[in-house]
Amino acid sequence: MKLMVIGGGGREHAIVKKLKENPAAEVIYALPGNGGIAADAVCVPEIGAKDIDAIVAFAVSRGVDFAVVAPDDPLALGCVDRLHEAGIPCFGPDAKAARIESSKVFSKNLMKKYGIPTARYQVFDQPAAALAYLRTASFPIVVKADGLALGKGVLIPQSLAEAENAVKSIMEDRAFGDAGREIVIEEFLTGPEVSVLAFTDGTAIRPMVSSMDHKRAGDGDTGLNTGGMGTVAPNPYYTPEIAQVCMDTIFLPTLAAMRAEGCPFKGCLYFGLMLTPEGPRVIEYNCRFGDPETQVVLPLLKTDLLTILQAVENETLADLPVEWAEGAAACVILASGGYPGHYETGKPISFPEALAENVTCYHAGDKLEGGRLVTSGGRVLGVTAAAPTLRQALQDAYAAAEGISFEGKYLRHDIGQRALAAGEGQ
Ligand code: AMP
Ligand code: GLY
Repeated sequence: MKLMVIGGGGREHAIVKKLKENPAAEVIYALPGNGGIAADAVCVPEIGAKDIDAIVAFAVSRGVDFAVVAPDDPLALGCVDRLHEAGIPCFGPDAKAARIESSKVFSKNLMKKYGIPTARYQVFDQPAAALAYLRTASFPIVVKADGLALGKGVLIPQSLAEAENAVKSIMEDRAFGDAGREIVIEEFLTGPEVSVLAFTDGTAIRPMVSSMDHKRAGDGDTGLNTGGMGTVAPNPYYTPEIAQVCMDTIFLPTLAAMRAEGCPFKGCLYFGLMLTPEGPRVIEYNCRFGDPETQVVLPLLKTDLLTILQAVENETLADLPVEWAEGAAACVILASGGYPGHYETGKPISFPEALAENVTCYHAGDKLEGGRLVTSGGRVLGVTAAAPTLRQALQDAYAAAEGISFEGKYLRHDIGQRALAAGEGQ
């Protein structure tokens, strides 16, 4: 079979590596892919993940048998709709279903209408009304741009003055462009955060192993928000009892709500949850695999990935058992110094001769230059280890991360520490 994966980060590398395990995969195209993915797939750097016309034309001309659309932008732009129109089976939600991520107003209104637990909120399309509301609010409070904003569209002002600035920067200065035409202002919740990715064909759902992201740039959860500096799976806060509550009050009701709204969700639905003292609440939905959650979740998947993705497309997921390995995985991101702010690129990367057998290095931001891998992005590599215990996985991931070098290499040193402490407290 000829497979095609849209995207070019660490998540896509993890998907490519897993698809490759199926002997039926004779070729995998990655559009655009990256320098490291080129070792596992045929990369097409000249076609970007948002070039929908070029993606469809490429898939048709090469006779692609199955496509996976991984990033949020092409999903929101209707890449899956267009591939389907061209007769190409693929994995991912159509544009209507992708609104669950691409519009926070849509997702918040969906949750309210169908009684799915989430933070209380108000929607504003006029700055004056938002500012008037804030004068009556208590702080901290949460201000979210409606649209896609590279994961940066959420601000948590601690005071009225900060909140006024947040509204002005999103709605008037359009810090996130048109994503800030409308905003959601919602109550500030507290509790451990859990990411749960789930395969769903619109009706049946197979939650994956839970995980924990580390979004802030600095140790001890300090500094700016990033795309994610590391992940661990499973998440020790997510007990079987909580998983059952989430299934009954969040996962199944969300699928039913999307069906009732005429936009059944097929693909990977990402539930960003907060385990508050009042119970689990949805913080956000994503319409795709998380990055870098995928880099710890897929290594623990025992069932063949391509078979699952095809069952989603064919709406036969109810008939397919999905199995997970015991044990744990940890991913440590190696970033360019300065990320998520300004950073330099083009730094040659050196690898040890071999990585331990339980370690995989997923490439996120590098390219080939004269046969050598050089850095080309903020998040450069995700070093994942899988092991019987989380402690061992962390030790092995950090040992491998130590052996990889490039100028300005930056990493957090406390990935998984909170999870370890929580796991031992139970
Ligand atoms: P999001 O982009 O929606 O995932 O939000 C980014 C981060 O902001 C989340 O991972 C949370 O840590 C935080 N956040 C979002 N909404 C809330 C909320 N209602 N209460 C507390 N923290 C929140
Ligand atoms: N790691 C968070 C995300 O993929 O949105």
